[in-house]
Amino acid sequence: MAKFASIALLVVLLSGLCAASRVPMSSLGRLPGRRLLQFANITLPDLPYAADALEPVISEEIMVLHHDRHHQAYVNGFNTAVVRLQSAQDASNVSAIVDLTSLLNFNGGGHVNHALFWESLTPVESFVPVSGSLAESINDTWGSFEAFQAAFEGAAAGVQGSGWVWLGQDPATGALSIRTTANQDTLAAKYKLTPLLGVDLWEHSYYLQYKNVRADYVDAIWQVINWPEVESRFTATA
Ligand SMILES: *[C@@H]1O[C@H](CO)[C@@H](O)[C@H](O)[C@H]1NC(C)=O
Ligand SMILES: *[C@@H]1O[C@H](CO)[C@@H](O)[C@H](O)[C@H]1NC(C)=O
Ligand SMILES: *[C@@H]1O[C@H](CO)[C@@H](O)[C@H](O)[C@H]1NC(C)=O
Ligand SMILES: [Fe+2]
Repeated sequence: MAKFASIALLVVLLSGLCAASRVPMSSLGRLPGRRLLQFANITLPDLPYAADALEPVISEEIMVLHHDRHHQAYVNGFNTAVVRLQSAQDASNVSAIVDLTSLLNFNGGGHVNHALFWESLTPVESFVPVSGSLAESINDTWGSFEAFQAAFEGAAAGVQGSGWVWLGQDPATGALSIRTTANQDTLAAKYKLTPLLGVDLWEHSYYLQYKNVRADYVDAIWQVINWPEVESRFTATA
């Protein structure tokens, strides 16, 4: 009787585990013991405002394509790469794992960067200027907000091809700096800095509206920066 009870308990526990990890129970015997939980696919986050909410600074057409097509493609590409990584790990194939790193960095970085970008923007009507300890730190670093803007725009102008311009913070010292990254490299991976604000400089983020004049897009985007959100990423240092 006690034996039946413990077998019943084991079955209940295993079904719970299988349900939680979305692994069919019949496949348990084939799974390597080191990884019962599968990586959950990432999903495209909703825009935190309507697609036309950033007009006239960024058109609805750009936002729809940028979010629904481009960001979705990074999400899909990352999920596909993770499935391939799991196969490569199961096969202990080091070359295959190494080959996948650029695909994981590109698509995973594309997801991370765009998720931060959407949250960094806000409709013109809800815009509020930078304030508090971040405003003071920007003053301390560049002399004035206008000097910071000029430095940021200058750095953006220097990006050849696709990339991003960033306001970042050193997590160890609290120091602010402006950096640029190529393609979908992340600020954290490239420079060990915390991203406070990132502006997408890929053509897909402005071309339909600003054509080849990227500087006009960077100049206009100041009107829709979500400074309270950017400030929430900043850690004040005494
Ligand atoms: C995760 O995404 C990959 C690639 O799009 C897909 O093949 C796979 O079926 C997805 N897995 C789940 C559990 O949705
Ligand atoms: C390991 O993966 C590579 C692809 O990156 C493939 O060419 C090779 O055949 C694989 N090796 C084995 C032993 O499966
Ligand atoms: C930043 O400096 C300007 C002068 O350049 C000053 O008017 C402003 O109050 C300063 N802001 C902060 C938050 O210190
Ligand atoms: Fe983009």
